[in-house]
Amino acid sequence: MTTASSRHEPVMPQATVSALRPCLSGLIVDGTAGQGGHTQALLDAGAERILAIDLDPDAVRWLSTRFRDDARVQPIHASYSDLPQPIGTELSAGVLLDLGVSSKQLATAERGFSFRLEGPLDMRFDSTAGVPAAYLVNRLPEADLATLLREYGEERRSRAVARRIVASRPIESTTQLARVVARAFPRRRRLHPATRTFQALRIATNQELDVLRQGLDGARLALCSGGRLAVIAFHSLEDRIVKQTFRRWAQEGLGEVLTRRPIRPDRSEAQHNPRARSARLRVFSAEGST
Ligand SMILES: C[S@@+](CC[C@H](N)C(=O)[O-])C[C@H]1O[C@@H](n2cnc3c(N)ncnc32)[C@H](O)[C@@H]1O
Repeated sequence: MTTASSRHEPVMPQATVSALRPCLSGLIVDGTAGQGGHTQALLDAGAERILAIDLDPDAVRWLSTRFRDDARVQPIHASYSDLPQPIGTELSAGVLLDLGVSSKQLATAERGFSFRLEGPLDMRFDSTAGVPAAYLVNRLPEADLATLLREYGEERRSRAVARRIVASRPIESTTQLARVVARAFPRRRRLHPATRTFQALRIATNQELDVLRQGLDGARLALCSGGRLAVIAFHSLEDRIVKQTFRRWAQEGLGEVLTRRPIRPDRSEAQHNPRARSARLRVFSAEGST
């Protein structure tokens, strides 16, 4: 089941294309191709070859259909953290990572990413592998759950939320979890009370921060000399890892950070695409990274 809002609009497409413009004549890896919005923007700008990677088999099926008549695009099911392996011995002129969840995944109730839609507590990007979020929700000791909520959700009321969750087990569905979490918040707030809990569970279920660290290193190894890595992050935990990694690489002489400050969406994009509001794009240019 999907809702009307399931069409995914790529975030900062123009800035992303500008960042990767020098790479258009070489192999570009779209490491989180999703619904192919950025892939299409890069093709429209003249990209000659794109490896469109996604960990979600549904997304790869979608990409295969969308680009079936376009020989420039090769969709594959893989994790970007496996880079450089998916490109073999070839080097890439550019790698794009647009992190997080797509609108289609959020709008598909059975995937369990949204606290607004009734669904199972799954939250896996690759629903054929790993352990669903229900396992963490129903099995983790209270103290570990509180730590997870604090570290991955930056949830200030982590202990109260963990206590409520443990007292309400078993919790079977997304909306049941959202109701349980809401009870840990005495006053109404602007942000839905379950926002941070769902972010934390999704990060833990998919081990997103470790995947990002490994994926950044792999992406750099995949780049040719002068190749570019562009990363769009959606929350401070991811953005901090990207910023610190790029800074460390520059200090080690591995290349240059091209974005002293992250690129943010302009006001009109933030207004018409709410998902873009927290986005930050950072770009690194590799120096002989073989
Ligand atoms: C924000 S969406 C990308 C949207 C895409 N740029 C577009 O314009 O349609 C993020 C995508 O990353 C995928 N993803 C998450 N973790 C991944 C991983 N480790 N490797 C590859 N893809 C991953 C998700 O399945 C999702 O489709």
